[in-house]
Amino acid sequence: MKLAIVIAVDGPAAAGKGTLARRLAAALGLPYLDTGLLYRATGRRVLDRGADPHDAAIAAAEAAALHPDDLARDDLRGPAADMAASTVAAIPAVRAALLDWQRDFGRRHGAVLDGRDIGTVVFPEAPVKLFVTASPEERGRRRWLELLSRGVAADAAQVEAEIRARDAQDAGRAVAPLKPAADALLLDTTRMDAEAAFATALAMVRSRLNLLDPGPAKA
Ligand code: CDP
Ligand code: CDP
Repeated sequence: MKLAIVIAVDGPAAAGKGTLARRLAAALGLPYLDTGLLYRATGRRVLDRGADPHDAAIAAAEAAALHPDDLARDDLRGPAADMAASTVAAIPAVRAALLDWQRDFGRRHGAVLDGRDIGTVVFPEAPVKLFVTASPEERGRRRWLELLSRGVAADAAQVEAEIRARDAQDAGRAVAPLKPAADALLLDTTRMDAEAAFATALAMVRSRLNLLDPGPAKA
């Protein structure tokens, strides 16, 4: 199936958005963009300057100066980077600076993008929107396992608390808060492994696309 459409994958931290979006993109032959990297790289650049991620002027300047190489840094994950990303992401001028970047990427050849506001703000016209969730306990467990696999022995309760705090900040902000678009398909993966989530999501995407396709014109 070769398409040039935008598929929006939104949801809270560690719901499995990235894993799912990457696989959907591969299955559908679409480019993939992890939009969280833009906010993570902006937060990192602010921290590198020794500045406070709440400083709107500095954060906006760093978002505007973002370079593609910044997205490949190896220090974009971990508690400090997570919270810095979420903090700069609440600043309207930061979001405005990153909007065209995301839209240009999606418009070129279509794409699967994952984030928080892809279906609500970046591509409200996307024909397929998924909102991926899982319970906070399960998401905490997933992020803890990920850290463990990278050799980081974190405290499980602390990882879950950090995820809850970041979700509250992302959902509570005034600009582009984390929430499902009115026409999003909801996918709760609490009791699904990554394989089952992918199979379910692919079926949802295909059925949404079939509904949208008017089919061959009748003679
Ligand atoms: O992008 P997001 O933060 O939403 O999550 P992720 O980084 O894609 O996934 C977090 C972890 O959950 C990864 O280690 C996945 O293998 C695992 N996982 C998943 O993605 N989907 C499930 N249904 C179950 C586990
Ligand atoms: O992988 P995980 O779900 O933990 O986070 P992420 O997708 O890499 O996003 C990091 C932070 O960037 C989030 O906590 C949000 O505050 C922000 N973000 C956003 O505001 N809008 C997006 N489209 C993507 C990320």
